[in-house]
Amino acid sequence: MSEMAATENAILTGEPVRAGVSIRRLTYADLPSVLAIERRSFPAPWSLAMFVLELSKPSGICLAAETESGLIGYLVCSRYADIWHLMNVAVDAEERRRGVAAGLIEAMRDQAGRDQRCTLEVRISNAGAIRMYERLGFRPAGRRVRYYHDNNEDALIMWLGEPDA
Ligand SMILES: CC(C)(COP(=O)(O)OP(=O)(O)OC[C@H]1O[C@@H](n2cnc3c(N)ncnc32)[C@H](O)[C@@H]1OP(=O)(O)O)[C@@H](O)C(=O)NCCC(=O)NCCS
Repeated sequence: MSEMAATENAILTGEPVRAGVSIRRLTYADLPSVLAIERRSFPAPWSLAMFVLELSKPSGICLAAETESGLIGYLVCSRYADIWHLMNVAVDAEERRRGVAAGLIEAMRDQAGRDQRCTLEVRISNAGAIRMYERLGFRPAGRRVRYYHDNNEDALIMWLGEPDA
């Protein structure tokens, strides 16, 4: 491991979400476990190619949450110009409501810089996720009509920081 990678890993693993859970960079080797959680978590799951593309972007932040028994959650965030886009976050069903997703998002914000703006889309029906984003400071800022092609559901657009016009 390079000195820089060692330093980044030290930062990411410095603050455990809770005892026994650590957060570190997501790697290609994690993708089989990621896909298993992804397919159980979403009606229209991402493909392997979508994760590979995001992991290949040097400016992105992709994080894993793990316990001794393996991967329990992940987050994928991309940067376009000066704005971060939270593209994907999921936690294995048995590990939910224990602060794992909130810990992943806080770790992402620490790494991006706490003053950075961040946006995301979430299904209008996904009340639990919307509640979580609101608790973390995201605010609703409009809708994308029929954004999700599997059921024509609208997306709620949320922003952390000042929304773009
Ligand atoms: C949404 C998801 C990522 C949340 O992960 P999690 O690790 O359970 O979330 P956390 O434990 O960090 O939740 C933090 C807070 O958010 C809120 N929250 C999270 N899930 C909630 C739910 N299902 N219902 C209501 N509030 C919820 C709560 O306020 C929670 O704090 P509390 O448990 O002390 O009340 C998880 O449910 C999941 O993987 N869902 C399927 C995939 C998905 O919908 N991803 C988001 C796509 S935009």
